[in-house]
Amino acid sequence: MTDRRFRIAVFPGDGIGPEVIRQAVRVLEIVARHTGTALDLTEGLVGGAAYDRCGTPLPPESLDQALASDAVLLGAVGGPSWEALPYDVRPERALLGLRERLGLFANLRPVVAFEDLIDASPLKAEIVRGTDILILRELTGGVYFGRPRGIRVEDGRRVGVNTMIYAEEEIRRIAVKAFETARGRRKRVVSVDKANVLESTELWRDVITEVGRGYPDVALRHLYVDNCAMQLVLNPAQFDVIVTTNLFGDILSDEAAMLTGSIGLLPSASLGDRHALYEPIHGSAPDIAGQDLANPLAAILSVAMMLEHTLGLPGEARRVEDAVRQVLREGRRTRDLHREGTTPIGTAAMGKAVCVALERKGAR
Ligand code: IPM
Ligand code: MG
Repeated sequence: MTDRRFRIAVFPGDGIGPEVIRQAVRVLEIVARHTGTALDLTEGLVGGAAYDRCGTPLPPESLDQALASDAVLLGAVGGPSWEALPYDVRPERALLGLRERLGLFANLRPVVAFEDLIDASPLKAEIVRGTDILILRELTGGVYFGRPRGIRVEDGRRVGVNTMIYAEEEIRRIAVKAFETARGRRKRVVSVDKANVLESTELWRDVITEVGRGYPDVALRHLYVDNCAMQLVLNPAQFDVIVTTNLFGDILSDEAAMLTGSIGLLPSASLGDRHALYEPIHGSAPDIAGQDLANPLAAILSVAMMLEHTLGLPGEARRVEDAVRQVLREGRRTRDLHREGTTPIGTAAMGKAVCVALERKGAR
């Protein structure tokens, strides 16, 4: 395990981003030490933090840094102080710009209900128990990027327009990812569309079906997005891999987060052919920023995804997940998960608890 060297661009971003990323980096450094992996970590500016310093949410230096890295670790972007800015310099543009420029077409959002948190979900325990879903969201196409777009004046009144468009190769590559991923899991794919109304997703359904013929060992089902939204809270255990469009994936993944009890638990990986970006899906939570209240577990679990998908250390990824599980079993909770009978702790203490659990397992 020598001469393993990786370049990681660290973009803490805004709000709770910096404090959760600090804990995630601690975990990453422990694993690097245990495995003799050399990490080249360089911090950069994105989002509102970048806008304040450079007048743009994705400065060229940050983009170059991301392009030169093996992986990006990102905290969160956005906040009330930047909400009134013109669209093209809003913090969210940094995320969309990175996705586009790094070609990160596949967004993996695992949704796992931890047994020790079964009562933290607003849904009944018997519904959420057994939830283990991988939402695979197409991330560089669809209505998020389609043209034409904008707000213009037509016949004396304003009209807003966006374009939902998918080319077949965009659908094909995410379909391949879905079926390949399902082969490593429970071999079931549900593809989500609105093919009864939207032609772009009628094509989606056709292409997914064509690709599926090459994977006879994987069961494929199609659901309309409205039905899928309902099924997710009715019987989430029925799902293995869900593959869907950019917009539907955005919405369904927030809904699915509630199966776990807190959006503060959900990591993500955004993968392309050459690049990768890892980030918690919770956003910048400006209301609790800088108060040591944020849950760092989503960021830490994002590091686990990095270990698996970029550093080629799936065993270490499982160890990090086990350490998280163990800390939860010990009753430690950040405020988002706090219930009677558990000990509420801060962001830094939670990060430390995971590090201690990880060290306790010792080096290999
Ligand atoms: C997400 C977020 C982003 C999205 C925003 C911040 C642009 O909601 O990653 O789910 O809509 O993709
Ligand atoms: Mg979202």
